[in-house]
Amino acid sequence: MPVPTLSPQNSTPTSTAVAAAAMTNETVPKTAKLTLGDQEIDLPVMVGSEGEVAIDIRQLRAKTGAITFDPGLGNTGACLSKITFLDGEQGILRYAGYPIEELAQKSHFVEVMWLLLHQELPSAPQLSQFTHEVTHHTMLHEDLKELFQSLPKVGHPMAVCAAAVGALSTFYRKEGPHTREQNWIDAIRLLAKMPTIAAYSYKHSIGQPFMYPRNDLSYAGNILHMLFANPCERYEVNPITARALDLLLILHADHEQNCSTSTVRTVGSSGANLFASVSAGISALWGPLHGGANQAVIEMLMSIRDGKRTAREFMELAKKKDSGVRLMGFGHRVYKNYDPRALILKQACYDVLGQLGRKDPLLDIALELEQIALSDAYFIDRKLYPNVDFYSGIIYKALGIPVDMFTVFFAIGRMPGWVAQWLEYQADPEARITRPRQIYMGPTPRSYKQVAER
Ligand code: SDX
Repeated sequence: MPVPTLSPQNSTPTSTAVAAAAMTNETVPKTAKLTLGDQEIDLPVMVGSEGEVAIDIRQLRAKTGAITFDPGLGNTGACLSKITFLDGEQGILRYAGYPIEELAQKSHFVEVMWLLLHQELPSAPQLSQFTHEVTHHTMLHEDLKELFQSLPKVGHPMAVCAAAVGALSTFYRKEGPHTREQNWIDAIRLLAKMPTIAAYSYKHSIGQPFMYPRNDLSYAGNILHMLFANPCERYEVNPITARALDLLLILHADHEQNCSTSTVRTVGSSGANLFASVSAGISALWGPLHGGANQAVIEMLMSIRDGKRTAREFMELAKKKDSGVRLMGFGHRVYKNYDPRALILKQACYDVLGQLGRKDPLLDIALELEQIALSDAYFIDRKLYPNVDFYSGIIYKALGIPVDMFTVFFAIGRMPGWVAQWLEYQADPEARITRPRQIYMGPTPRSYKQVAER
């Protein structure tokens, strides 16, 4: 099989993202030439609004019979999107052009929801109307409560939430293709009801009565109310914890084509409804390599705190492939620099613990692990830095959120991203069902043998 070579025309052959980034709009070639044996084809070159360079291979198989191979899709653009931009080398994250650092400081989660859904900040009337809509869809159908009651109290809340979100489609069943209006009301329902579903999954696990949402509270305040209030006493939302939770939700709101968002798009690409697509996204997020890492980080820090092994012993294990131990909350498919969200969360740990007058030895352990990693060749060479999950759990814990619920809170934060990306897919005239190819490595043709002959 001839080895394909690929060299963009009119420029020195390069193959690294850094070199591509060095190209400017003027020097980016219009086509890339692919030589495959005696075949030579030109492939169109696309340039994103932030200068990312992509080779359009949509005609590759038709022209050459060959496909590309990219397990994990780390080199493959699956869609065009206007929602979120990441620059992994620079550690940049922007929602529709707005830097995450500014949104974290100046915005709030419901406004960020609108930004992700419309790629514009809302006007005051738009924000007011949108807030009213979200607030007045927070209740669940009374029959849905039976679902929670039917599940074991010890079940992981991510399983409960995936089931409950999928079950929403039984209450809002509609036949035929999704209309824009129906998609919009389903989007509002998901944004509004996810905190209620999350809180009910927690209340069920501890045998306490469900607390109805309160329309007089903020989005974050309502979450804290449904989680921690009970019918026997007044519950006052602490503004410090509400603000800290709102910040966490903003930081988790979207992250372009991560595993769970790609799952939501993929399920939606078959024509499945929004509830079914997001239910699948919740399941994808649950994995410890993805959103489940925030729970795994705290469990890792607790194991060191409880003396199972020292931080240094842990780090030595994390560097051994066959140890089965990873430094959870470190490393990222895209960020080869400090995750900008982790920087914000690291500072927020100090702020929140300080404002609440608390200390947490887990923060000291996290700082020690980071210190060791950032001066260790293993982590430096592999460009492994703290990601969003490394410090978030320390804040969730300071807010009194149970460890089992950490990934559920990631899902609450990511809901507007999933919904916005799903709607963007539905509105894409060129969208097609997701169906990757493979390279078959199994047995070649052979005839059936009777069992006596085998
Ligand atoms: C999220 O995609 C997103 O945007 C996700 C997310 C979002 O907002 O949606 O940002 C949220 O999921 C953050 C990531 C949370 N996961 C973790 O913290 C789990 C620990 N991290 C890793 O398992 C890993 O870094 C991944 C899964 C995040 C990324 O995996 P990749 O890109 O497939 O990298 P890899 O596994 O191929 O690792 C490359 C090398 C390997 O070593 P070598 O083969 O070169 O010897 O780095 C090593 C890995 O063994 N490595 C680690 C490590 N992460 C990678 N070694 C020790 N500890 C780690 N955490």
